[in-house]
Amino acid sequence: MDRESVQERFGIIGTSSAIKHVIDQVRLVARTEASVLIQGESGVGKELVAQAIHELGNRRHKPLTIVNCGAIPEGLIESELFGTEKGAYTGAVEKRAGYFEAADQGSIFLDEIGEMPTNAQVRLLRVLESGEYSRVGATTIRQTDARIIAATNKDLGREVEKGRFREDLYYRLSTVVISIPPLRKRKEDILPIFESFVHSIAQKYNTSSKRLTDNARKLLTEYRWPGNVRELRNVAERTIVMVIGNTIDVEHLRPHLRGVSAEGSSSGLVRMTEQPGSTESDRERELLYRALVELRVEIQELKQLVKQMAQSPGSVSYDTRLLEAPPREMIVYEGRQNESVDDFIEDASYELEQDEETPDSGIAREENDAIKQNGSQSELPTLEYAERELIAEALKKFKGNRRQSAKALGISERTLYRKIKEMEDDATAAE
Ligand SMILES: Nc1ncnc2c1ncn2[C@@H]1O[C@H](COP(=O)(O)OP(=O)(O)O)[C@@H](O)[C@H]1O
Ligand SMILES: [Mg+2]
Repeated sequence: MDRESVQERFGIIGTSSAIKHVIDQVRLVARTEASVLIQGESGVGKELVAQAIHELGNRRHKPLTIVNCGAIPEGLIESELFGTEKGAYTGAVEKRAGYFEAADQGSIFLDEIGEMPTNAQVRLLRVLESGEYSRVGATTIRQTDARIIAATNKDLGREVEKGRFREDLYYRLSTVVISIPPLRKRKEDILPIFESFVHSIAQKYNTSSKRLTDNARKLLTEYRWPGNVRELRNVAERTIVMVIGNTIDVEHLRPHLRGVSAEGSSSGLVRMTEQPGSTESDRERELLYRALVELRVEIQELKQLVKQMAQSPGSVSYDTRLLEAPPREMIVYEGRQNESVDDFIEDASYELEQDEETPDSGIAREENDAIKQNGSQSELPTLEYAERELIAEALKKFKGNRRQSAKALGISERTLYRKIKEMEDDATAAE
């Protein structure tokens, strides 16, 4: 299949020499059995490329099993990948096949491979070398014939240097490396992708297609796209709902671009601290940092809103919310300037996960208190119970596939794993 047909078939848009090179590599490698490592920032199209490799290869009639290694808690990853025998770990109530068993004769896409803990790395290396593995808690050796396609947004070479990724595994995995550059390094792809998204959204909603003004084109091309094509798609979707006429201009785009305010200057959220000698990666980190801060502020605002609504339903209007939202600059830097951005990012994502899980500021605690006071449980199932039922149902429907179940439930895989873990822990505690 020639390059254009491949792009057409998988919806991979772009005319940059970088994207052409990627497609050519895909075409070549698809016909082989070699394991492939796809590198690139988040949102550049790694999963899309993995699908293309699988679909163009001899294994296309067998499934492509997609596993996000970064979403699976460390303690579960081995049993998820390789399966488990009864009693192998706390709460394991049955024998379960792992993803490698499911992927036999097909392909397995190991996303975020850089997040894989070392013990799982050892098992994976063995699979790569001999196809052999055993379920957790079992002694029988099994054989799998799964083609491995891995992806990472980390610099695995550096992870090896830092001792976080096994060197032997790195060499095994990187027989073929496909690197997808970020959008800002292949600017000529930005407009074609944006226009194609706009076109298909317009078709979907049965509205007329929109044209970009010259200034809008310039803005899109110059923007740094820290979230790459995924962000480009989101911006296209959000923009198109704002546009009434047939033309998309800068004012339609600006509100959706990070760090670009409605007036076109840097937003007031966090001033870009453009230090002399700051490198591109410094600026990238700054952007990422700002995105996280923004997310945190939004979550805090939401939490406040929910809390107020719980306390006095009907009392919250949009305006009070806006008035009571904490001033943004206040939450931002304060003593953080010199702290390592990495640490802060880790903190922030951890805090976000905690926020998601601990309802200490919100309704749940008040509800519990109310139940205690009344001395009787209501007849309705608790939220937690209902949630667990739903999770169990989803898992059953998707035959234990956690990725699909999470999608159907509208929660992240990470959250689903945590909830399953809690359910299992409670089950063992009750035994
Ligand atoms: N070149 C491209 N043309 C069209 N859509 C793309 C392209 N690259 C990525 N996408 C789309 O962008 C989104 C993110 O891609 P994905 O493969 O999930 O990125 P990654 O795995 O690198 O995070 C998906 O919706 C994908 O279909
Ligand atoms: Mg991805």
